[in-house]
Amino acid sequence: MRLKQLNLENFRNYPQLNLEFNHGLTILTGENAQGKTNLLEAIFLLSLAKSHRSNHDNEMIRWHENSARVTGLVETEHFEFPLELILTNKGKKAKYNHLEQAKLSHFIGKLNVILFAPEDMQLIKGSPAFRRKFLDSELGQSHPVYLNELLEYNRILKQRNTYLKQYSHSNQFDNVYFSILTQQLIDRAVSIVRYRSNFVTSLNQLAQPIHQALSNERDQLGMMYLASSSHLDYQVDEAELKSQFQALFECSFIREKDQATTLYGPHRDDLGLYINDKKAVDFASQGQQRTTVLSLKLAEIELMKELKGEYPILLLDDVLSELDDARQHLLMSYIEKKVQTFLTTATIQGLKLHQLSDADIFYVENANVYKGESLNG
Ligand SMILES: Nc1ncnc2c1ncn2[C@@H]1O[C@H](COP(=O)(O)OP(=O)(O)OP(=O)(O)O)[C@@H](O)[C@H]1O
Ligand SMILES: [Mg+2]
Repeated sequence: MRLKQLNLENFRNYPQLNLEFNHGLTILTGENAQGKTNLLEAIFLLSLAKSHRSNHDNEMIRWHENSARVTGLVETEHFEFPLELILTNKGKKAKYNHLEQAKLSHFIGKLNVILFAPEDMQLIKGSPAFRRKFLDSELGQSHPVYLNELLEYNRILKQRNTYLKQYSHSNQFDNVYFSILTQQLIDRAVSIVRYRSNFVTSLNQLAQPIHQALSNERDQLGMMYLASSSHLDYQVDEAELKSQFQALFECSFIREKDQATTLYGPHRDDLGLYINDKKAVDFASQGQQRTTVLSLKLAEIELMKELKGEYPILLLDDVLSELDDARQHLLMSYIEKKVQTFLTTATIQGLKLHQLSDADIFYVENANVYKGESLNG
């Protein structure tokens, strides 16, 4: 799929902007703080109905304005449709094909994007929360129902934690009510675990050969979805997993009351990454970390293609500087002609990409965007 047009109204530092894009590579260049990442954020927003860098939608509304609007025209193999997102201080409205969607899950994932930003380096050494977010973001696009499951899980989790905090040490603690909450939590947990572990298995299969190629056959990448407790085995069937969770919650009841929080579940799971069977979080070198993140991103692109039948759009925010020349070339030749790509960079001087001659170059300067001459010839 590809994005043909993008229109912004009072989004971040843009009062008004209309852009048209080509099929291939679009380079957004300009000095710091001019609005390059804001453009990628707007595209990301059309995919997931939220920002990749802020949890507060109203931060995206231009200062001193009441609302923002982002519109995109998407083209897939079979048809073309507009997407529109309106942000106000009271909430957001999402329109697919001009029709307002009552549920955001009916909007999310109509446009598929994979974003690769410098923060992604944290996928290797950062906290488990970062890796869970990575799983959630892709699963949300490919399986919108998953987001409902996750929302529901988080709602029950919050309720359960609040109850533990309020009544753990009181004689009003209601065992029956608490076990209903626990049962509801387990039902959602099992469903989330299923989605995530299947996803990791598929991603692993795709990432392994890519990683071997990227590391000149030196490194073998491995991936595993890790449970929050060694008493949980995610390979078993649904009924069995439910009883494992049940048993685990029963025997940790006293400790949960004591610590007043939910100790086990998908909110504490992790994605284990291994290079040559060694934990990447402990042993990966800088270079190995970069190669691993790149393999994950390329595998995500392929997985999205498998799940959705079309390649997603790739957003590369200032990442070329994170990669050496050889990896830059590998990345760019991998996506060449298959994947519409938006790339931000402070300067195009250092880029030695052979695709450069076909790229559209947009100069971003204080929320104005000028299309430059292509570098042909
Ligand atoms: N809600 C907002 N209203 C107006 N301006 C905003 C808003 N949010 C952010 N900005 C401005 O947008 C600019 C940042 O834009 P952006 O992050 O796209 O920069 P960039 O071109 O990617 O820079 P860099 O090269 O440093 O990454 C900042 O100047 C910031 O003040
Ligand atoms: Mg930026």
